[in-house]
Amino acid sequence: MNPPDSPLPDRYPLAIIGAGALGLRFAARLAEVMPVAVIARDDVRAARLRAGVTVGDHLYKPDVFPADAPPPADWVIVLVKAGDTADAAAIAARMDAQGVLSLQNGLTGKVLRAHCATGRVDQGITTEGAYRDGDHVWPSGAGETLVPAGFEPVAAMLARAGLRARVEPDIGAARLAKLLVNVAINPLAAVHRVNNGALLAPPLRAELDHLVREAWPVLRAEGLALDEPAALARVHAVAAATAANRASMLQDVLASRRTEIDAITGALVQMAARHGMAVPTHDALYRAVKALEPGNRLLSESRPCTGT
Ligand SMILES: NC(=O)c1ccc[n+]([C@@H]2O[C@H](COP(=O)([O-])OP(=O)(O)OC[C@H]3O[C@@H](n4cnc5c(N)ncnc54)[C@H](OP(=O)(O)O)[C@@H]3O)[C@@H](O)[C@H]2O)c1
Repeated sequence: MNPPDSPLPDRYPLAIIGAGALGLRFAARLAEVMPVAVIARDDVRAARLRAGVTVGDHLYKPDVFPADAPPPADWVIVLVKAGDTADAAAIAARMDAQGVLSLQNGLTGKVLRAHCATGRVDQGITTEGAYRDGDHVWPSGAGETLVPAGFEPVAAMLARAGLRARVEPDIGAARLAKLLVNVAINPLAAVHRVNNGALLAPPLRAELDHLVREAWPVLRAEGLALDEPAALARVHAVAAATAANRASMLQDVLASRRTEIDAITGALVQMAARHGMAVPTHDALYRAVKALEPGNRLLSESRPCTGT
């Protein structure tokens, strides 16, 4: 949208914190129709991105800012990994925004709100996909973005950029349905180091279904709007549609990065405790994934985050 070398706006209609796969995927599309600011971790990363990053088939030169100098923006989307949410919230708090919206996986809204007391702060969901291959960002399938009531301008900006987006009146139930999919597929694929499709076949299919059946009563008690057969069908459909994909948690394990297990399975374990319900298989998977993280931190040393 900004012609090359034109001055940067004093204030952006939209900013994205997190210049990773999904953040750059969204930003590159949005930048075709409006100014959008991208907030990178530091000066070094910002300078690299300013020179241009290939997103799909296009070279994209973002209006990029380091985390210690974010510009004012009307609306902010948070797309860092769940473990970096508190840092992203602190950045968002300095941007004088009307609203801050997480589109992360896992439940991060509580952490975001705890560290960012500005305007509206809430969490939507997205099934857009993207992955990084070196410095190249590849979109991996067009999905849909659901935002909570109050974030209508964000949905409108995404739609203007040609992305499917809408306000979901029952965003809480939608988040729980996404969490259901994540607690079933992500840790199981990560621990067994298989693509999602392998979870639908023996011997892992029984484990997958058991995880859904164990999680379902807890999520239902929190407001999930699916009965048990529908919950199983939802998880099977996502595993089938992403059969050839490596789950993000598996990618993190293979790259020896911290995973999002705290905000995913950790959140479920905490919900279960609140309701006095047992989720022993999820608890065991939580510990197994933690044991695979760098530094090999176990549950006794690192409790699940309080994000709900
Ligand atoms: N990728 C997908 O297809 C997809 C789909 C749905 C949901 N999601 C969710 O979206 C979120 C982002 O995923 P992703 O795949 O885009 O992850 P990613 O590629 O790892 O990108 C995250 C980015 O955030 C940056 N970051 C971390 N801390 C920061 C800070 N304090 N300030 C500024 N930037 C910071 C990281 O910087 P460095 O590069 O310097 O570490 C990285 O570039 C996750 O919650 C994920 O589960 C992803």
